Amino acid sequence: MEKIINVKILNKSYSILIGKNYLKKIKLLFKDKNLSQNIFIVTDKNVYKYHKDYINRSFEFAKKLQLVIIDSTEKNKNLMTVEKIYSELIKNNFGRDTTIVGIGGGLIGDIAAYVASSYMRGISFVNIPTTLLAAVDASIGGKTGVNFSNIKNIIGTFYQPALVLNDSVFLSSLPEKEYLSGLGEVLKYKFITHKSFADSALLKNNVQELIGLSASVKANIVMLDEKELSLRKVLNLGHTFAHAFESVLDFKIKHGVAVAAGITAASYLSRLENLISEKKLIEFLNEISKFNIHPQLKNVDEEEVYSLMLSDKKNRDEKIKFVLPIDFGKIILDYEAAKINVINSIKLVKFFFGPV
Ligand SMILES: NC(=O)c1ccc[n+]([C@@H]2O[C@H](COP(=O)([O-])OP(=O)(O)OC[C@H]3O[C@@H](n4cnc5c(N)ncnc54)[C@H](O)[C@@H]3O)[C@@H](O)[C@H]2O)c1
Repeated sequence: MEKIINVKILNKSYSILIGKNYLKKIKLLFKDKNLSQNIFIVTDKNVYKYHKDYINRSFEFAKKLQLVIIDSTEKNKNLMTVEKIYSELIKNNFGRDTTIVGIGGGLIGDIAAYVASSYMRGISFVNIPTTLLAAVDASIGGKTGVNFSNIKNIIGTFYQPALVLNDSVFLSSLPEKEYLSGLGEVLKYKFITHKSFADSALLKNNVQELIGLSASVKANIVMLDEKELSLRKVLNLGHTFAHAFESVLDFKIKHGVAVAAGITAASYLSRLENLISEKKLIEFLNEISKFNIHPQLKNVDEEEVYSLMLSDKKNRDEKIKFVLPIDFGKIILDYEAAKINVINSIKLVKFFFGPV
C-alpha cells in the first residue's frame, strides 16, 4: 500500500511518499516534479554497502551523476563534511540546475539538506530517509543543520525538500537498535495525539502504516508552525532531557532512545510538579513500557544533566523551559520546574529503566 502526504508550507508544497520499491519510480517522479536530472547524491556508508546496486540502477536515468559517501557519525556532522561536498560540487561543475539527493538517516538528511539550502543560494533537494527515525521525524519539517563547536545542530537553516521518498526496501537492513530509536519518536507522537495511537499490534506488524501515521502527525504540526514559534514546540517533548542524556553519555545512547528516556523523565516531572495524578503517571509509564525501549542511564549524573539542560540553546535567561505531558493529547509548553523536582525526576527515570 502506498501513501502520500501532502505538506503545504507558505507558498511551497511537497509530497511525502511511503511505499515499497518506490526508488524504482524515481525517474518518473523526477519528471513529474520537474526536477533537474543533474543529480548529486549524498549517502551513508552502511546504506551504500547494503543497497549499492539498487541505488545505482535506480539513478541510471540521470544526465549527470555524482555520489559522495559519508560515515554517519555526529563527529562528521560538521562544516568540514559540508565543505567536502561543496568542493565536489564545484570540482564537477554542478550548477544551479542540480538536484541534491540525500539517501540515509537523519544525519545524512540534515547535512545534505543544509548543502542544498546554501549551495548557490539554494538548489532542489530530495530526501530519501533510510532509518525509522528519519522517516517518522527528521525528514519532515525542513530543519537542516550541522554541529559546530561541540553544539549539536547549532548551524542550520529551514529548507523544505522538493520530495520525500520513503522506500521500505531500505529498512530491511536497519539494525534493531536503530529501529528502537525510531520508536522513541513514535512514542512522542502517541503522547501528543492520543493513547490509541500506534498500539502494540501496529508497532510489531506494519512499519509502513506506522511511518504514514507518524509522518502525518509531524506534517500537520509543521504546516501550522514551520519556524517553531509556538505549536511546533510540542515536538520537543522529552527532548530537553534527551539532549542532555545524549551529551552526558557522549552520544553512546541513540537519539530516539534518549527521547523515550526524556519522555519518561518529563512524565515524572509532571507528577512531581503536581500537574498530574499518580494514576495518570502509572498510565503513562504503562504505555512507555509497551514500546520495549531500554535506555541505559546508570552512568548519568543528575547534576551534570541539569547544568547541560541550562546551557541548551533553547533556554534563555538561565531558565529551563520544559515541555510536559498532562494527558495524551495535552501538553504544556515553556514550563519552569523546581530544580529539586528535575533532579528527582532524573533519579526516578534511572530507577524505572533499572540497571543493565
Ligand atoms: N531535521 C530534523 O528535524 C531532525 C529530527 C530528528 C533528528 N535529527 C537528526 O538526525 C540524526 C539522527 O538520525 P538517525 O537516528 O536516522 O541516525 P543516523 O543517520 O546517524 O543513522 C544511524 C545509523 O544507521 C545506519 N543506517 C542508516 N540507514 C540504514 C539502513 N537502511 N540500513 C543499515 N544501516 C543504516 C547509519 O549508517 C548509522 O550508523 C541526528 O543527527 C539528529 O540531529 C534531525
